[in-house]
Amino acid sequence: MSRQENIQKRITVAVVNGTGYGGLELLRLLAHHPVFDLVEVTARSEAGKAVSSVFPSLPNLDLRFSETVERAELAFVALPDHAAVEIVSHLLAAGRRVVDLSAGFRLRDAALYPRWYKYEHPAAALLEEAIYGLAEWARPDLPEARLVACPGCYPTAALLALAPALAAGLIESDLIVDAKSGVSGAGRTLTLGNHYSEANEDVSAYGLGGHRHAPEMRQELVRIASAAAHAAVDNTPLRLTFTPHLVPMTRGILATCYATLRPDVSAETVRTVYEQTYRDEPFVRLAETPPHTKWTLGSNLCFVYPTVDSDNGRLIVVSALDNLIKGAAGQAVQCANLMYRLPETLGLPCEGVYP
Ligand SMILES: NC(=O)c1ccc[n+]([C@@H]2O[C@H](COP(=O)([O-])OP(=O)(O)OC[C@H]3O[C@@H](n4cnc5c(N)ncnc54)[C@H](OP(=O)(O)O)[C@@H]3O)[C@@H](O)[C@H]2O)c1
Repeated sequence: MSRQENIQKRITVAVVNGTGYGGLELLRLLAHHPVFDLVEVTARSEAGKAVSSVFPSLPNLDLRFSETVERAELAFVALPDHAAVEIVSHLLAAGRRVVDLSAGFRLRDAALYPRWYKYEHPAAALLEEAIYGLAEWARPDLPEARLVACPGCYPTAALLALAPALAAGLIESDLIVDAKSGVSGAGRTLTLGNHYSEANEDVSAYGLGGHRHAPEMRQELVRIASAAAHAAVDNTPLRLTFTPHLVPMTRGILATCYATLRPDVSAETVRTVYEQTYRDEPFVRLAETPPHTKWTLGSNLCFVYPTVDSDNGRLIVVSALDNLIKGAAGQAVQCANLMYRLPETLGLPCEGVYP
């Protein structure tokens, strides 16, 4: 092999926009990616300014914020849903591949958007095509994907916790996800509830009337279970109650998930199924004790801890991840690696920041 052939072709990438928390984490990860060449980053508010002057945490990133994407072949989109759906359509029409962090293309049924996101989907035809990018379960579909819809942070934690048991037929299809998120889960845009004096020293539940991440969890759990050899979701519709909570920390999601075990399913069987499912996964680790969000800060890891409440015949699975990495930017890079048939772990940290 000649030296030329030996050199991996660089792939030009853009981040749209780089001024939010998800976009900022993409910039940090892509700055050191060995194959993706970050050539453009857009902003609405900071167009024209040097990235390093707006974000001193990225002192060596020699780029200016632009208004549009002109030359990247792959675009990571980190915009609110309504803004993302329009831009993604344009990027695809211009021949680029897209990894979208928003919920704009996560739901396959366009009829769900008015109820959960308050808009009629303007590009419903793309919902069929979009690959739901939970990398651990989407691997075969990613190399051919033109559009990847990255899962939400809560759904990533819930799906990695519950999918193995559901797919293996260990549990009934009546699930509860009780999850806590740090404040960055709501993004950088200020809202009253995210003010320091409102969120600090406070814990509260929200979205009890139905949170928009619930249909996404339900859709993917049904799909994963139906595709499995031991389809667990027979004719019983899957019931899922999801209660999110805001906790006074910057990053992190902890999901505690509950399901009724099917008769005669032992704790050993549960452990074996989870070990087999995640044995070779680079970014999902089975924990020996209930995981802490602090184990995951800055890394692309999700820790999963399945356990059995034998007195009540219940499975409890606790999962923890960094909402901005495995729950957003890290998962996006993991999917992009797979889209280009690169090693899945390229440019992604397994080491967190502790304490
Ligand atoms: N935060 C998380 O943990 C997380 C996890 C998974 C997925 N996501 C999803 O990722 C996306 C980005 O989230 P984020 O947390 O990074 O949000 P964010 O911190 O609030 O950033 C939003 C970004 O979008 C831009 N923006 C806001 N309104 C816009 C509009 N109307 N038109 C064009 N640009 C607009 C802002 O640009 P300017 O500053 O230049 O105005 C900013 O760059 C969202 O769809 C979110 O649901 C977030």
